[in-house]
Amino acid sequence: MTPIIEENKSLKNSNTFGLDVTARYFATINSIAELETLLRDARWESIPKLVLGGGSNILFTQDFNGLVLHNAILGIEKINENDAHVFLKIGAGENWHKIVLYCIENNYAGIENLSLIPGTIGAAPIQNIGAYGVELKDVLDSVEGIQIPPASPTPFFKEADQCEFGYRDSIFKHALKNKIIITHVTLRLNKKPLFRTEYGAIRELVKNKPLSIKAISDAVIKIRQEKLPDPKVIGNAGSFFKNPIISEEQFLLLQKKYPNMPHFTEENACIKIPAGWLIEQCGLKGKRFGNVGVHEHQALVLVNYGNGTGDEIKKLSERVQATVFEKFGIKLMTEVNII
Ligand code: FAD
Ligand code: EPU
Repeated sequence: MTPIIEENKSLKNSNTFGLDVTARYFATINSIAELETLLRDARWESIPKLVLGGGSNILFTQDFNGLVLHNAILGIEKINENDAHVFLKIGAGENWHKIVLYCIENNYAGIENLSLIPGTIGAAPIQNIGAYGVELKDVLDSVEGIQIPPASPTPFFKEADQCEFGYRDSIFKHALKNKIIITHVTLRLNKKPLFRTEYGAIRELVKNKPLSIKAISDAVIKIRQEKLPDPKVIGNAGSFFKNPIISEEQFLLLQKKYPNMPHFTEENACIKIPAGWLIEQCGLKGKRFGNVGVHEHQALVLVNYGNGTGDEIKKLSERVQATVFEKFGIKLMTEVNII
């Protein structure tokens, strides 16, 4: 039951930036029993730990001098059902998009708008993944996991409304940061679909076709493939920054100067501005700086052309932040987890 510990393991194929860093120790976790054995072993007690799923939201700026726990707990189980919903309990190491396709095949609705997001389902609650009008919180029933170090209750259990979800945010990025490893996620899927087509490009692609969750998924996949770089071809971690949310007052002042600034009204009369637009207005879209750069089709995505380092990407991100702040007075916050 003790997992194999690899030493000085390259993480190049375990992070979507393709950064050539190593982990001092690396364990692939296949079950809760393996995880508990490892976490109760005194030899690992004081060693820093990092939970790693698909590595699609992480920027390594250095080698990790500790133990990487690579979550590979698998399995999909239908644990409950009623007239409206199906409840699937899913191992945290399952690939997110594989689960989306599984749900479409079985006619379980709710996550089709989240097609093609890379990574594992265990990481999905960490930043409350979202795309095209849907967020994980809309379909999440509960999350199960183990505390680091192990402590009761084991497993710990959180209902969705205890996860403090927000835009790209949750309790797992604050009070529980680095304190838990999620082992299972339970989704509450709809038997009767509620189609979400308000995003313009989706509406365009599904018009004149019979509406179905498969049609929406296909549209989302097409839009994403046109805009977002495939990490297998060019290293990236999706949006590097969050879209900033500013006060109405600040927005109105900026709008006088930039009447075409795209914007979306949020709760409490706050306004969300697409960070990609702000970065593009600074003339940075498509700009290359040595081994790294700002993607040519989506300015919110920083890319590694092959031989870049995490440090180069971090420096570029700071340059982008400083340039946007100077022009617009808006501070961009990073979405990617920097190690
Ligand atoms: P990792 O990168 O391995 O980990 C991310 C964080 O979660 C780390 O802090 C890690 O320690 C922690 N973590 C991982 N697994 C666990 C676990 N089981 N228990 C506890 N902590 C854990 N995100 C969106 O929200 N919407 C998008 O549309 C989107 N598009 C993307 C497009 C591209 C091309 C790429 C590369 C990324 C995109 N992302 C998007 C970001 C990314 O796919 C998500 O954040 C995804 O949930 C990360 O999953 P992962 O398994 O790769 O996590
Ligand atoms: N825009 C530009 N230039 C750009 C990019 C965007 O002007 O280079 C402007 C355009 O006005 C465009 C608007 O920004 O209409 C929105 O762009 P897009 O639809 O591409 O979405 P986004 O706001 O850039 C967010 C998420 C994505 C998610 C998409 C679709 C964040 C930080 N990013 O991007 O999530 O897939 O919406 O819902 O919220 C991720 O989190 O990694 C991610 C890719």
